[in-house]
Amino acid sequence: MRTGHAEALAPMVEAVLREADRVPASIDRIAVTIGPGTFTGLRVALALTRGMALALRCEIVGIGTLEAMAEAVRQEGEGGGLIIVAIDARRDELYFQIFSRDGVPCAPPALLSIEAAAAEVTRWSKEAEGPLRVAGSGFPLLAARKEAWTSRLCDTGRNEPDAVCVARLGAAKAPGAEAPKPLYLRKPDAKLPAKSMAMGAARIRRGLPADAMLVAALQNASFEEQWNAAAVAQFLDGPGTALILAENGMGECEGYALLRQTGAEAEIISLAVAPDSRRRGIGRILMEGVLAALREAGANALFLEVSVVNEAALTLYQGLGFVPVGRRAAYYRDRFGAHDALVLKRDLVQNET
Ligand SMILES: CC(C)(COP(=O)(O)OP(=O)(O)OC[C@H]1O[C@@H](n2cnc3c(N)ncnc32)[C@H](O)[C@@H]1OP(=O)(O)O)[C@@H](O)C(=O)NCCC(=O)NCCS
Repeated sequence: MRTGHAEALAPMVEAVLREADRVPASIDRIAVTIGPGTFTGLRVALALTRGMALALRCEIVGIGTLEAMAEAVRQEGEGGGLIIVAIDARRDELYFQIFSRDGVPCAPPALLSIEAAAAEVTRWSKEAEGPLRVAGSGFPLLAARKEAWTSRLCDTGRNEPDAVCVARLGAAKAPGAEAPKPLYLRKPDAKLPAKSMAMGAARIRRGLPADAMLVAALQNASFEEQWNAAAVAQFLDGPGTALILAENGMGECEGYALLRQTGAEAEIISLAVAPDSRRRGIGRILMEGVLAALREAGANALFLEVSVVNEAALTLYQGLGFVPVGRRAAYYRDRFGAHDALVLKRDLVQNET
């Protein structure tokens, strides 16, 4: 289905139970595919099945979609060298996983360029004689390659996971300690609606030296001056320093602020939001997290320097009550020339809410 999963799924479960002459209480275990697949489809299915498992107090196991497709090929039992599951993920990429003829995965499911997927087939097919049975809509993309193995590919015509195979795998697999979670191999295309971070989808957390690599990546995507993880970790090792991170609902880091506090005065050393995530309220939430952390640490003033041409940052800071207290001539340099920095200050009134 392209749309309407939420309305269709529960009545389908009901219809299947009726047809099998079973009541919901007779379900011992639920198996659900965890992806890769469409965001909406996965979320609806996982929400419904997790809800059912909770209400019925039954077990629940997650099964990889590619694993379920491979199982359908395996049970056809025609032998063969390898089972390849390749789903066309558009943008010249494939959801891809290779299995032995017995259905044992050679590697975890991945989102690969066609090039990288072909390299995987080259790697694994050397050792495995016989046909390479392919399931999934990615078959023509592999078949169009001119490789040593191209003539060994054979299309199984299986483009969907089979519910019976999901059930069989689910019956064989022991439930994990945690409820199944969606396996997202690609970031969502849809942007979170503006301010949704503020409504609870995001959280602010204190960063650790272990986050240095994340910070360096965000820093390097945002500024001409490049840092490496070691420099960030070294900075964090210094006295009075702190790292504040903004994470999205999926636990991915979307923004950071590096701070240094000396006595009651603090300064922002660096702050940025991931380029794809800007204008969604993250910068403001991050700054509010910074102000709260500094108040907690007993600071009463926060300073920062910002380029006079950095309109986004200037607007953000002005909106948060920063005021200019100084100017440094030609402090920043970029490919357009030298720019002055404004020194901004924000008083941190300790009883402010
Ligand atoms: C500055 C920066 C951190 C803002 O982060 P952000 O998540 O996009 O900011 P927000 O979505 O929370 O925006 C908050 C407010 O800032 C202002 N703002 C943000 N981006 C803006 C832009 N491009 N133009 C004008 N105003 C902007 C707006 O007033 C906005 O409120 P609104 O959306 O209600 O209009 C981000 O642009 C960034 O990382 N820039 C590169 C690094 C940098 O310049 N860091 C600061 C160095 S001092």
